[in-house]
Amino acid sequence: MTARSSSLINNTAPVDPTQEPFQTLFKNVQGNIVKGHGRDYAVHLLMKFKGQPADVRTWLGTIAQYLTSAFQQEEHAQQRGENPHVIFANVFLSADGYRYLNLVPPQELLAFHQGMKRRGGILNDPSVDTWELPYRERIDGMILLACDDRACLPFSDDPSDAACWLGSNWGSPYFSDLAELVTVELGRVLTKDPNSGDIVERGSLPTSLTASKLPSFEHFGYRDGISQPLFLKGQIAGLSVTQWDPFAPLSLVLVQDPLPDGSPSGGYGSFLVFRKLQQDCDRFQTQVEELAARLAGSGHRDLARTQALIMGRFQDGRPVSDPSVSPAFNDFDFTADRYGMQCPLQAHIRKANPRGETAVWNTRQTVEKERRHRIVRRGIPYGLRRKGEAPQPPLGLLFMCYQANIAVQFEHLQGNWANNRHFPLWEHGIDPISGQGYSTVQRWPTPSGCGTVSLRFSDTVRLRGGEYFFAPSLNVLRALKK
Ligand code: HEM
Repeated sequence: MTARSSSLINNTAPVDPTQEPFQTLFKNVQGNIVKGHGRDYAVHLLMKFKGQPADVRTWLGTIAQYLTSAFQQEEHAQQRGENPHVIFANVFLSADGYRYLNLVPPQELLAFHQGMKRRGGILNDPSVDTWELPYRERIDGMILLACDDRACLPFSDDPSDAACWLGSNWGSPYFSDLAELVTVELGRVLTKDPNSGDIVERGSLPTSLTASKLPSFEHFGYRDGISQPLFLKGQIAGLSVTQWDPFAPLSLVLVQDPLPDGSPSGGYGSFLVFRKLQQDCDRFQTQVEELAARLAGSGHRDLARTQALIMGRFQDGRPVSDPSVSPAFNDFDFTADRYGMQCPLQAHIRKANPRGETAVWNTRQTVEKERRHRIVRRGIPYGLRRKGEAPQPPLGLLFMCYQANIAVQFEHLQGNWANNRHFPLWEHGIDPISGQGYSTVQRWPTPSGCGTVSLRFSDTVRLRGGEYFFAPSLNVLRALKK
């Protein structure tokens, strides 16, 4: 990496994408990385190449014109109210994809090169033979298409519909000669219907409601998308930042793309972790009730507090440690609750982001080092959710996160924190949402705050398949055409 380019992404203050040198940078970085695309529907086309490598490379170079840059994403954001039909598009390659194309894959610790299937051991992932069939195959790449109007997308789980769409919309009539669609995943943003209180597809609500962009929820019923690393001036301006600073330098998610793009400084991309996580809402509910009963003893069962202990936030988003604040509140840490008597040490958001606490328990750690483990989450729920009906399986989360280094970021969160029953303190148990593998009981604080009950809350989320990808720089993709 050149000195010039490295200093560009090691920015110490939020950036303005309309100002140079960031405008040029953002014209070549794919969208959704530094800021979520925010569309209500998304289609994920997972593919395996089968054409001649040179032909597939040329095709990737040709379709680069349809992909959305971070810069265009900002422009589209201004127009979306008037035009809900604007399609957002990304393309990703796995290490197998790079190898197939005879291209040099981006450098990272071993994780990306090995791919998700071979990293299962360190992540306690269920064995690949238990994954959904398509994911047991080699996966070379993925196309992501997203739009507020699902009629504009090939929103169907039949791969031939997607192949047909690519033929007519992206001038790729020979797509089926170049690649096979291994599977298609359909993502639907969920929200809480303000009238009925039901969790529903946000895009199914009348336009007057969707226009105001109601917050997103996930299938267990919690508000999602609150706490993220933030990169842009416009995202951070006006936020209260006294205990937790969401700012992150671009180097948290961007790395130099190793392939030439014709410019002296080169382009940037990001590593994407894609995991299909099935959620078992019945098991979740049963365990919530069991835990609520244990915490209540002979007193009143408080389901809302119990749900909040599991996530670290109430279902509407308020942190469990301070129910008086707004649902989107994120300016807090755990300094005043060191032993987890308000927010359990194993609560999902506390395991996934200890907000500086690791420096308290581990003398070799610093807050700055801990912040390097942060990920940028861009997941979207899958599965049908009909108004007034109980959740019908199969459903879950197409978990996606961007980072500059998969081993240091996603794998550290999953393997060393979520799955580790001794993190941050001895025998506190695994993360009740994302923890995988051997689970002992966890300790849950009683309402009085002076004792705990022990109960094992686990196995409500199950990995069905996934892969590690890289989102190449747009200029690098364009250069493949030559
Ligand atoms: C089906 C599985 C999952 C569900 C339902 C889920 C749900 C949630 C919810 C509701 C929040 C709180 C909203 C927010 O702060 O934005 C959250 C936060 C978070 N989750 Fe998950 N999550 C899942 C899997 C994962 C996995 C696998 C990881 C990483 C290994 C992860 C990492 C995080 C992080 C980093 C945060 C933000 C914590 C913070 O900064 O306070 N999640 N998740």
